[in-house]
Amino acid sequence: MLNVLIRSALLSDVESLAGLCFALWPESSREEHASELAALLEKRVTPLMPLVHFVAETGDGHLVGFLEADLRSHADCCDASHAVGYVEGWYVEESRRRQGIGRQLLAVAEEWAREQGCVEMASDALIENELSQRAHAATGYQVVARSVLYRKPL
Ligand SMILES: CC(C)(COP(=O)(O)OP(=O)(O)OC[C@H]1O[C@@H](n2cnc3c(N)ncnc32)[C@H](O)[C@@H]1OP(=O)(O)O)[C@@H](O)C(=O)NCCC(=O)NCCS
Repeated sequence: MLNVLIRSALLSDVESLAGLCFALWPESSREEHASELAALLEKRVTPLMPLVHFVAETGDGHLVGFLEADLRSHADCCDASHAVGYVEGWYVEESRRRQGIGRQLLAVAEEWAREQGCVEMASDALIENELSQRAHAATGYQVVARSVLYRKPL
């Protein structure tokens, strides 16, 4: 198993972290991710709800994964009387998968959510992303709903 340090992202991580975000969310460019991350990490923008990035760093200082989590005022099938910790993004480099890094990132994010007073953590996965669904199931997440997204041009 690869030994990694899970820690909060720093401003100096912006370029590496933007590369990982781009791998997960290629619909925005690497530059757009870097600019958004820099604004957040420099605290030039403050999201309405707390939002954090945790990174997995190898001994040689290479970032191999990240998890973006925030708080949502409510999430499907969760107790509406508490804010809910939410996994917005979860990614580990392909060559580093199945070594427990995803699990470690999630555990740190769940601990962060507990510290924020949350009693539940929620997440989502695309229906075709079976890998993500297997990883969620293996880490204790239950399917609570499935939805269909619609669009109609006006
Ligand atoms: C989901 C993801 C972050 C998991 O990272 P990871 O470091 O491989 O996760 P772990 O090694 O901690 O695995 C946790 C558990 O998930 C399950 N799992 C993970 N990958 C799996 C696979 N390919 N097949 C079956 N089960 C799998 C296993 O039960 C695993 O535990 P085990 O290895 O002890 O059996 C990683 O696969 C990934 O980046 N996927 C692409 C991006 C993505 O889909 N992200 C989630 C949507 S936001």
